[in-house]
Parts: sequence; C-alpha cells; structure tokens
Amino acid sequence: MLSVNELTSLEEELSKASKKGLKIGLVPTMGALHDGHMELIKQAHLHSDYVIVSIFINPLQFNQAEDFINYPSNLLKDSNKLKNAGVDLLFNPDAKLIYPKEPAVKIDFGVISHKLEGAFRLGHFEGVGLVVMKLFNLIKPNVAFFGLKDLQQFILIKHIIKEFSYPIKLQGVITVREKNGLALSSRNAHLSPSGIKIAAQIYKGLIWAKNNFETFKSTDELKVQLNDFYKKQEGLSIEYCEVLNLNKFKPLKSLKNGKKTALCIAAYVEGVRLIDNIFLRE
Ligand code: PAJ
Repeated sequence: MLSVNELTSLEEELSKASKKGLKIGLVPTMGALHDGHMELIKQAHLHSDYVIVSIFINPLQFNQAEDFINYPSNLLKDSNKLKNAGVDLLFNPDAKLIYPKEPAVKIDFGVISHKLEGAFRLGHFEGVGLVVMKLFNLIKPNVAFFGLKDLQQFILIKHIIKEFSYPIKLQGVITVREKNGLALSSRNAHLSPSGIKIAAQIYKGLIWAKNNFETFKSTDELKVQLNDFYKKQEGLSIEYCEVLNLNKFKPLKSLKNGKKTALCIAAYVEGVRLIDNIFLRE
C-alpha cells in the first residue's frame, strides 16, 4: 500500500491508475478505523479496481473544540489495517494541505444541512460538504463509499454529487453493528462496559419502532411511545428522534403514505454523543 500525504505523489499515482483504465474507489474516513470502515473498504474492492482510503480529521466539521481534540487517532494501527485489507493507497493529508488558509468561500448546503445533525451541531455539514468536495476534486474517484449509519451525511453527499455534477457513483453501505446491536462508531471507544450496554438500547428501540410503526397513525404517536421506552433506560438521554422521508430528508407527520421512511436518532450515553437510524420503509 502506498501512503501519500502530498499532492504531487497523489497526482502521479492517480494518473498511473487512470492510464491503466482502473476504476477508482474512494472511502473517506477520519481514521480510528473499525469494522464499519472495513466494510466500506470491502465494498470498495467489490465495486472498483483501485481503492483509496483517506484519513483526515476534518477540523471544520467539529462544532466543539474539545470533541476535535479528543477525537481518537492511531495512524500506525489504521495503516496496518488498511495494508491487510489490500487498500491500494492511503491519502493522509495534514490540515495545511487541505486548508492552506481559512476558507474564504462558504457554501450553504441548503435545508438538509440545517436540520437534525445540522441543527444540533452548527456548521457541521458545511465542514463535511467542503472536505468531501475537496477530496472529490483532488482524487476524482469513479465511485465513493459512504456509510448509511450517517444517513443525513449520506443524503447530503447524494445531493452534492447531483447538484455539483460530479461524475461519481455513490454507494451506500449498511451499518455494521456489535452483536448487541450497537452501531460501530469511533466514539464507542469512550464508553465504559456498562455504557455500551446502555447504548445498545438505542437499537432495541429502533427495532421496536420498525416492528410496530404500522400500528400508529402518526409519527408523533410513534415518537411518544419510543421516547417512553428510552426514558426507562437509565443513563440514556435522547437529543432528537425524527421520522423522515428518505429522499428529501423531510420530517413526516403521517406513517400511512407509503413513502420511503427512516427513523433517525441522536442520544448521549456517559457524555458520548451517538447517532443511529433504521429504515422503517425502504
Ligand atoms: P468517519 O466517522 O470516520 O466515517 C467514515 C465513513 O464510515 C462514513 O461514511 C461513515 O458513515 C462510515 N461508518 C461509520 N460507522 C459505520 C458503521 N458502523 N457501519 C458502516 N459504516 C460506518 O463520516 C466521516 O468520517 C466524515 O464525516 C467524513 C465523511 C470522512 C468527512 O470528514
């Protein structure tokens, strides 16, 4: 595996790959790699010929300095995992390369970027959108792989690709979970064993909602019952719980309209912020 952190070598490698006619697959990450990331890489091997993983802890998408400073990082361990997974190239730029100056241009990514995660983490999606566009521009992948665990991020990237006319195929990858249902996340490393047990209740509630949503007329009724379940879980504090139309990521009132529907949730356990979701109707 080649490890590259500057643009000249990146461009050289990209031009070699494109001369060979290889289909380039990009998996953007912030490192602290777990089996969720590794699933994205597996899918990248299945759907492309030359797999690039980027590791960049993007300061612009953290709305709290403390969260950025505490974000787990272990480049050596990550790099070994990527080698073993047969990744062709690791792109690991430093902040100066991605942001030589404070960005003079700000892009507002519209209504999807302002709700849920965007509302509770102000500026988050401006940072995500900007760094992903930079990675797309530098790497020009044919296919890009994103996890459905970060559903709002996935929907936003889908819109960015369409609206900025990127010739990139977007591939969503299903959420990888612990045996107890907890969605894998780099942040889980901050949870104690009992915190992990509490956090696993998030998915329990989501499964309950999936199995029962058709018995409710409105999303409000479903949310009340679900919140009652969560309130009984000591140590679990729900930040938001919303039922949305998948395409426009618009909150839904009725559950009877047959539209593609997802239930998204953010919660705190032991001060760790966790997000998850489930498709109620696909
Ligand atoms: P990061 O949190 O490192 O996640 C990188 C990719 O892994 C994202 O597409 C995310 O949805 C996916 N992922 C995380 N946990 C997963 C799981 N349990 N199952 C499947 N996929 C999972 O998301 C980011 O980084 C950043 O916002 C980034 C897109 C790299 C931009 O900075």
